Amino acid sequence: MSNVEGSPDAARSQALVDGYYTDPERRPSFVRDMFNRSAQHYDLVNQLFSLGSGAWYRRFCLRQAGVGPGMLVVDVATGTGLLAREALALAGDRSTVIGADVSEAMLAIAQRNLGIPVIQATAEALPLVPGIADFVTMGYALRHMADLNTALGEALRILRPGGAIVLLEMSAPRNKFARMLATLFIGLVLPGLSLLITRDARARTLMQYHWQTILNYMPPDVVMHVMRDNGFDSVTCKSYLDLFHHYIGRKPL
Ligand SMILES: C[S@@+](CC[C@H](N)C(=O)[O-])C[C@H]1O[C@@H](n2cnc3c(N)ncnc32)[C@H](O)[C@@H]1O
Repeated sequence: MSNVEGSPDAARSQALVDGYYTDPERRPSFVRDMFNRSAQHYDLVNQLFSLGSGAWYRRFCLRQAGVGPGMLVVDVATGTGLLAREALALAGDRSTVIGADVSEAMLAIAQRNLGIPVIQATAEALPLVPGIADFVTMGYALRHMADLNTALGEALRILRPGGAIVLLEMSAPRNKFARMLATLFIGLVLPGLSLLITRDARARTLMQYHWQTILNYMPPDVVMHVMRDNGFDSVTCKSYLDLFHHYIGRKPL
């Protein structure tokens, strides 16, 4: 199996998400606009989505990967800072957790809530010097990347040798029954609930788009191949409910 271009699953994941935009070139601006428009609702919708376990799970994954005091963590696609918040709790120093994101509205919330340095940048072009990071983390954003190979290449570039990438992502369960349940809950109930609670159609669109991208996303074995093809070694993946996936990869020494 080769990189994104060589994998049918990966290619499908990088293709259009039906009904949201008609030209792949429009994807980055569509994603940025969608998160800019729905930033104010993101934390609430996320609470619903994870049934309140989001912070616990994020910290658990970071701790398992070895994030600890004094380490420099670059949280790519940091959004409102939900993963960065947990990195900060483990690293312990505001100046050593940096958040990067393409959406200025999401970043403004992260900065207000956490007081960490933030950079408006795409994962595919990070304005950071090579080898500075002990960890590059990315929560629930792989499936939004316009160019996954370039984003992983950037992560590898800014990591120090021996540093690690930690990725949290979701994909639809392979078991038909589990997939049906997930479609019902994440694809139908949650968008409806989001609309009901926020009274804002943008929150519903965000949830609907989330499920479309999860449904289209590549399974864990393909993500692991793509990580290896982009230069990471010791790649592992732990999965929960065949829905939540926690990937770790190391930059070779
Ligand atoms: C689902 S949110 C995840 C936020 C956060 N990491 C978390 O764990 O909750 C996805 C974020 O990825 C950002 N994003 C999407 N594509 C991006 C890209 N190519 N480069 C940087 N950020 C991107 C969006 O603006 C959004 O804030």
